[in-house]
Amino acid sequence: MELTLNEKKLLVALGPVGSADAADLADLMETRREAVVQYANLAGERGLVDVEKRVSRRYTPTEEGQAYIGKGLPERQVLESFGETIPMRDLQSHPLAKIAIGWMRKKNWIAIKDGVVQKTGTTAPGPDEVAFARASESGSVEDGVGVADLIKRGLVQEEETVAYTVSITSFGRQLLAGGLDLQEEVGTLTRDQILSGAWKNLPLRRYDVTKLPKRAYPGKVHPYQRIIDEMRRILFDMGFEEMAGGIVQSSFWNFDALFQPQDHPAREMQDTFFLGERWPLPKGFERVRDMHEHGGETSSTGWGGAWSAAKAEQCVLRTHTTSLSIQHLAEHPKPPVKAFCIGRVYRREAIDPTHLAEFEQLEGIVMDEDVNFRHLLGFLKEFYGKMGFEKVRFRPGYFPYTEPSVEPEVYVEGLGWVELGGSGIFRQEVTAPFGIDYPVLAWGLGISRVAMLRLGLRDLRQLYKSDVEWVRETPTYGGRR
Ligand code: PHE
Repeated sequence: MELTLNEKKLLVALGPVGSADAADLADLMETRREAVVQYANLAGERGLVDVEKRVSRRYTPTEEGQAYIGKGLPERQVLESFGETIPMRDLQSHPLAKIAIGWMRKKNWIAIKDGVVQKTGTTAPGPDEVAFARASESGSVEDGVGVADLIKRGLVQEEETVAYTVSITSFGRQLLAGGLDLQEEVGTLTRDQILSGAWKNLPLRRYDVTKLPKRAYPGKVHPYQRIIDEMRRILFDMGFEEMAGGIVQSSFWNFDALFQPQDHPAREMQDTFFLGERWPLPKGFERVRDMHEHGGETSSTGWGGAWSAAKAEQCVLRTHTTSLSIQHLAEHPKPPVKAFCIGRVYRREAIDPTHLAEFEQLEGIVMDEDVNFRHLLGFLKEFYGKMGFEKVRFRPGYFPYTEPSVEPEVYVEGLGWVELGGSGIFRQEVTAPFGIDYPVLAWGLGISRVAMLRLGLRDLRQLYKSDVEWVRETPTYGGRR
C-alpha cells in the first residue's frame, strides 16, 4: 500500500506514544488540529489508525455572566453591600438592585417590611452559586445541579467540544517498522518543472478524487423571494410596469372605490384588521358615494341606502392589493395601462397549514380600448404557463367589483385542481366614478400557494419561518420542473 506523506508523518508521530489527542499531534506535526483530524480519518479508513471521537457539553459564562466573574451573582454582591438592614430606597440606588432584589427575596435572604430591608440570616450559597463559582474558576462547568438555573438566567451557555484521540493500529505499526520514506511530496507544479519535464521524476501528492468536499453554504436569496423575483421578471418581460403603495389603506380605497357595499361581510371586524387611523377622502369621492347610493350617472341602481363618509375614512391593513390597482387607475384613467404589484395583504384568519393572516398577492390590471375577457384568460394562462403550470382552467366566480368574474385554477399532480385567486373585468360601477371609459382586466392571485406548490411544501408557514437549515437545503432552481 502506498501511503501519503501526511499519513507517514502521522504514523511517525504516533510511533513513540501509541495514542494521542489530535491537538497534541498537531503540535508534534507542526500543523493545525483540523488537518490532523482530516489525515487521521483518511488513515483510519485504511486501517492505519483508530480515531475515537468524544463530544462533551460544557457551560461557559455568557457576556453577562462574565461581568460577575470574581464578584459573584448580583444578589450576592448586593447582599454584601449593606449591614443588617437598609431602607429600600437606598438599596434601590445600587446599580444591580433591579436584578438582585427579586432574587434575594426568592432565595429568602431578605424580608421587606415598611420600606426597610432586613437580612433573614439565611445566606448559604445555593447550587446555582456553587456552579457559577466553578464556571468562573475554570472557564466552564459540566452539567449538574444549579446549571439549569444559570442557563435560564442567561448567565452561562452551552458549548459543545469535540475531542479526537488517534491510536496507531498494529497494521500501522507494521508499516512504520518497515521504514517510511519521508521525502516531501509536490502538490503544485511550476511552469519550469512542466516545460523541462522534471515533473516526471518528482514524488507527486496523490488525491482521492472520489472524496466529497466539505459542504459550503454561501449566502443565497430566500426560496420564496426567488420565486417572487421570477414572477416580477415574467411580468416585466410581458410589458408590465410595477405599482407601489403602502400596506395601510383607507376603507375608501380598499373597499368603497371597488364598489364593495359598506355592509359587505368582508368589511366586518372578524375578517379585516381595522386601524385607529383615518384618512381624508380624496377629491371627487362624491362620485363614489353617488354610485353606492343610486348608481351615479350610469344605468346601475347602486346599493341604495346612505353611504357613510366616516366608514370610508377608517383605515385598514389592506385586505387585497386591488386597493392599489384602483388608485393606480384613478391616477391614470386614460389607456393604455398595464401594471402589476406583488405585495402582502392581511386578513383575520384562523391560522392553519394552508391559511395565514398575512400572505402575498400578485395583482395586475390591463386597460385598453378593445381588451376583452379572452385577453384576460389568455394572460392568466400564459403567466401560469411561464411559472411551470401547464394545465389551467377557469371557474365562474363572484367579486363585487368585477363582471364577469373567474377563479383560475391550476392542475397539480397528486393534488388535483388548486384554486389560486380571482380575476375579472371591472364593473362600470368601479370605473365610471374615476372617468375610466375602457375595459379593465384585473386579477389578484395568491402567490404563497404557488410558492408552496413549487417548493413542495405541506405547510405555508414554512415560507415565513427563519429556518436556515431549510434555506440551505432548498435548491436554488426552486424546484422548477
Ligand atoms: N381581490 C380579489 C381577492 O383578493 C382578487 C381579485 C382581484 C378579483 C381583481 C377580481 C379582480 O380575492
